[in-house]
Amino acid sequence: MNKPLLIGPFTQLLPMTGLPLKGALKDEQLPIIENGGILVSEEKILKIGVFDEMKSADVDIHPIEGQHVCLPGFVDSHTHICFGGTRARDYAYRNAGKTYLEIAKAGGGIWDTVTQTRKASQDELIDGIIARSQKHVKNGITTIEVKSGYGLSVDEELKMLRAIKQANETLNATLVPTCLAAHMKPKDWNQDKNYLDVIIKELFPILKTENLANRVDAFVEESAFSPEEIKPYFQKAKEMGFDITVHADQFTTGGSQVAVDFDAVSADHLEASTEKEIQLLAKSNTIATALPGASIGLGCAYTPARKILNAGGALSIASDHNPGSAPMGNLLTQASILGTFEKLSNTEVLSGITFRAAAALRLKDRGKLEADAVADFVIFPTDNYQEITYHQGQLKPSEVWKKGINVCK
Ligand code: NIG
Ligand code: FE
Repeated sequence: MNKPLLIGPFTQLLPMTGLPLKGALKDEQLPIIENGGILVSEEKILKIGVFDEMKSADVDIHPIEGQHVCLPGFVDSHTHICFGGTRARDYAYRNAGKTYLEIAKAGGGIWDTVTQTRKASQDELIDGIIARSQKHVKNGITTIEVKSGYGLSVDEELKMLRAIKQANETLNATLVPTCLAAHMKPKDWNQDKNYLDVIIKELFPILKTENLANRVDAFVEESAFSPEEIKPYFQKAKEMGFDITVHADQFTTGGSQVAVDFDAVSADHLEASTEKEIQLLAKSNTIATALPGASIGLGCAYTPARKILNAGGALSIASDHNPGSAPMGNLLTQASILGTFEKLSNTEVLSGITFRAAAALRLKDRGKLEADAVADFVIFPTDNYQEITYHQGQLKPSEVWKKGINVCK
């Protein structure tokens, strides 16, 4: 067996440990280990601490030359990176004054991507997921949630989820799949049966037998599914043991109440949330996920992240990378910009893309640098962690480690 590998020294090592899951965080609370090191064995962290104190004849060393800051590999807890085609036309329409809902009603929007995704083969979808994930890895993101939702029939949703599963097998990132068969009502649905009934009866069991997803999502919105319509879908998903997550309060409220009622792991978007929804979420176990990439892509308000944290809520920040509302896909840029608009501390921003994002995916083994965690971490060429958000995503990692391997030299 190989000796454990000691990586360091790091000018600053940010383990992101000892911080609460919920509520506001000040930078004074951020633990920093100066001249830190990480001891790794196989895929896991054995220990973190001061580099010089961990050196011994029993370890190999991966030296870090110069000034560097190391923190947990980032977690992007909400994406739609499995899709075909582009929506550049929607973007131009929007900037010409048409609204998201107007474009959707005129035949653009999500349905346009459904049409383009259905035309793509499973292999083409895999290639797209891999290309987008590799960009994410270069930016320090080592765990990526990926939704279906551009298939909107049993077979097409399966094609997407099988593509996600296969891409996961070849990637230097962990993909966490989510079934979003309730992204909108399929426009070509002409059977007598209710669409969601068919999804419940025919798709959900296959998700289990093929191990394609253990999370189920829905878009609760006027243009998609009302709170009443979505209840049987979430009810069945819960009975079958799926985790629930909800696209909630993006344009109108109602979704966050559904999320809390079903004890969802997360309620995502929340741009339209008012004080009532903020209080509701803050008192619940449901993690609030801000998607600044969608606000930037649509030119809409940001999720009230400051108010959510002040009310005692847990805040994850995710890219929502998708061809329609959030085409940019750069999580660190978006999280940093959310910080400037919502007045978030660095600790709140970094928590939102590390351990709080991991919690939104119910992953306990990442998002923090501690013994037994997966050895996923990102190294930036700077002497001060404040430089990371300050450069708004333009300071690039010098190394990214995934499961104990340097995957981005
Ligand atoms: O999270 N809001 C609904 N779904 C996506 C948008 C998908 C699309 O426009 O293609 C979102 O923003
Ligand atoms: Fe989304």
